[in-house]
Amino acid sequence: MGFITVTRSVFALACCALGLSTAVQADTPAGDRARGQKVAYTCLGCHGIPDYRNAYPNYRVPKLGGQHEGYLVSALTEYRGGARPHPTMRGQASSVTEQDIRDVAAYFATTTPVASSGKATGTAPAAAATCAACHGPDGVGITGDFPTLAGQHADYIEQALKAYRSGKRQNAVMAPMAAALKDEDIHALALYFSQQSPSLWVPLPQKTASAR
Ligand code: HEC
Ligand code: HEC
Repeated sequence: MGFITVTRSVFALACCALGLSTAVQADTPAGDRARGQKVAYTCLGCHGIPDYRNAYPNYRVPKLGGQHEGYLVSALTEYRGGARPHPTMRGQASSVTEQDIRDVAAYFATTTPVASSGKATGTAPAAAATCAACHGPDGVGITGDFPTLAGQHADYIEQALKAYRSGKRQNAVMAPMAAALKDEDIHALALYFSQQSPSLWVPLPQKTASAR
């Protein structure tokens, strides 16, 4: 409890010092999962195929199964607004309504929630000490505002950290975190978080079709 309170105030400080409002979803009504399952149909064309790859640059499409709902809404909103520049995802996020975003987020988030075991797998690289305050020691985001990294594809994590570092992906909290990281730190962090469990997972179309 004390841990969470402290880290959350650190987070609030980081945002407010920069005069930005973050996409904290605490007040957003929960999405409709049944509707979300219909919206997800198109998404599974990429996100529902294990190890499906983005071309140029080449990295695997992120796992969405078990990701935090608040973060999913925030990520899609960032594509719409342009803070995240990926052209295909900008198109996908802009072709759906805000209600669709809430519903599809609820759908991916709650089919199998990821609960933290609190225990890490393997030896954390030194650079991971900072990350635990928000992403948890085992990579499970401590609240819905912080994405779960546990079990995410290592090449996607690596790509994301480099995008924060270069400023291509804009985020006031992650930019200073990534700025100090060397390529070898990024590689080690990505590998470490990708190996943590309980893990994010690929929502296979046949699995999600029968889900609730
Ligand atoms: C043509 C393939 C494709 C389709 C279709 C697609 N996505 Fe994506 N999605 C991607 C790729 C590639 C990325 C990683 C982009 C990046 O690096 O920012 C991504 C990223 C995301 C992320 C960010 C994940 C994270 O961990 O930050 C979310 C959320 C997401 N997609 C949701 C959706 C939803 C919802 C739909 C359907 C409305 C959808 N996607 C359709 C390829 C696709
Ligand atoms: C103060 C809280 C905080 C700390 C500390 C922090 N992060 Fe983050 N991280 C966030 C937030 C908030 C986001 C979502 C930002 C966004 O919307 O782009 C994020 C996003 C990410 C993402 C993108 C996830 C995805 O699915 O696209 C990665 C990768 C990441 N962080 C890795 C790290 C690593 C590695 C460290 C330690 C070096 C770290 N973070 C430290 C708050 C934090």
